[in-house]
Amino acid sequence: MLRQTLKFRKTISFLCVLSLLILIYLIITKSNSEHGRTHYKIAEEKRDITFRGFNIFPKDEYNNINKMNLQSSNEVTSDDTKHELAEAKNRIQELEKKIAILEGRMPQKYPEVKFLGYKERRRILVTGGAGFVGSHLVDILMMKGHEVIVVDNFFTGRKRNVEHWFGHRNFEMIHHDIVNPLYVEADEIYHLASPASPPHYMQNPVKTIKTNTLGTINMLGLARRVGARILIASTSEVYGDPLVHPQPESYWGHVNPIGPRACYDEGKRVAETLAYSYAKQEKVDVRVARIFNTYGPRMHVSDGRVVSNFIMQALQNLTITVYGNGKQTRSFCYVSDLVDGLLGLMASSYTLPVNIGNPVEHTIEEFAMIIKNLVPGCRSTVATGAAVEDDPQRRRPDIAVAEAHLHWKPKVSLQEGLQRTIDYFKEELSRTTLYNNQTYVDMKVNHH
Ligand SMILES: NC(=O)c1ccc[n+]([C@@H]2O[C@H](COP(=O)([O-])OP(=O)(O)OC[C@H]3O[C@@H](n4cnc5c(N)ncnc54)[C@H](O)[C@@H]3O)[C@@H](O)[C@H]2O)c1
Repeated sequence: MLRQTLKFRKTISFLCVLSLLILIYLIITKSNSEHGRTHYKIAEEKRDITFRGFNIFPKDEYNNINKMNLQSSNEVTSDDTKHELAEAKNRIQELEKKIAILEGRMPQKYPEVKFLGYKERRRILVTGGAGFVGSHLVDILMMKGHEVIVVDNFFTGRKRNVEHWFGHRNFEMIHHDIVNPLYVEADEIYHLASPASPPHYMQNPVKTIKTNTLGTINMLGLARRVGARILIASTSEVYGDPLVHPQPESYWGHVNPIGPRACYDEGKRVAETLAYSYAKQEKVDVRVARIFNTYGPRMHVSDGRVVSNFIMQALQNLTITVYGNGKQTRSFCYVSDLVDGLLGLMASSYTLPVNIGNPVEHTIEEFAMIIKNLVPGCRSTVATGAAVEDDPQRRRPDIAVAEAHLHWKPKVSLQEGLQRTIDYFKEELSRTTLYNNQTYVDMKVNHH
């Protein structure tokens, strides 16, 4: 019995010593791992800093972080370490802000710009300059060496269309709605601000009328005040569903004043009337361009126009939808040709309206096939849908006036222009679907 008790006590003491040893071992390993984590965290922060290429990291800050790293190895409490880490993070954030400011000051690379002396250089205002046509016009004016002011409310335009000029000394961007008066100095005004595609201008018809009437009054008033020449971007829509073919400038048009397109068609007709009223009464120097369907890179991918719709459908192997019987005709002008025409008109002494467009005419059905054949491997089929209200049946400009007075005619072939546009849409599609994982759907409401 006594032997048994002694043996039991021995076992108990042995177990106690063993547990004590295990406890000591655990305490030591915990403390080491705490230090190890601190080292690791700080090393991570440092690594992060170097990864972002902070090569202008101030020496003091760098030393401080190093100091903290050394100190941390001597610390015993995790609270202090946490506090220092938080401080380090704050400092890193402050430095990141400073770096962002410095990067913003670094000179950007711009497209090549000609130098113009003060006598040739003009201050040019482009309303709607962040839109499809406006942004191409801005590019040319900038490259010619002029000072350009873009005014846009970004309803359909995008900063991305002109962002390559941000920060250039000749470029200025004003976020402004032209329905409100604008006070700037300018020698010339290209007045392009207005939604142009049917889904956009039908979205808010009252606003479309206001932009084309009040907005145009504001721009004509500005032109009068500063003595600037002003070019009004009118449209072939002033001819409505034409009874004369092809359409010369002398044709007065055939427009339904209460139809779904009236907000735009009649808005532009009033804009023309306003231009010639200001010219007669206030001696404003006006030019009026009647622009026919235009296409090219920077068109809105979902603006519901024939070219953008057909290309987007063909690129995604979706059914190409033709509204009506497909026998209605259109003539499409490549955007660089249009911009040349606008520049030519602004520079000319011709003051009556001028048609600017490409007279090569195709049926909508033919367009669908041309685009399908230009997209390699396209498996889309062409289908017809219900006709659209007030869809013009024939559209082709008579460009005799532009040829005679501006010595202008389009140069870019349909194949070449479409190829450049398809390449652009391909890139847009890959960019957008990549981010949104979405498929573009048919936004079409007619064959503008
Ligand atoms: N593209 C064509 O086929 C075509 C045909 C005929 C006429 N036009 C005329 O040419 C001009 C430009 O057309 P686009 O195709 O570049 O269209 P777009 O929609 O790409 O560009 C129009 C620009 O005007 C801006 N805008 C609209 N309302 C405004 C407002 N109230 N204040 C300030 N900015 C405003 C938009 O944000 C956009 O940047 C328009 O006046 C249009 O009527 C174009």
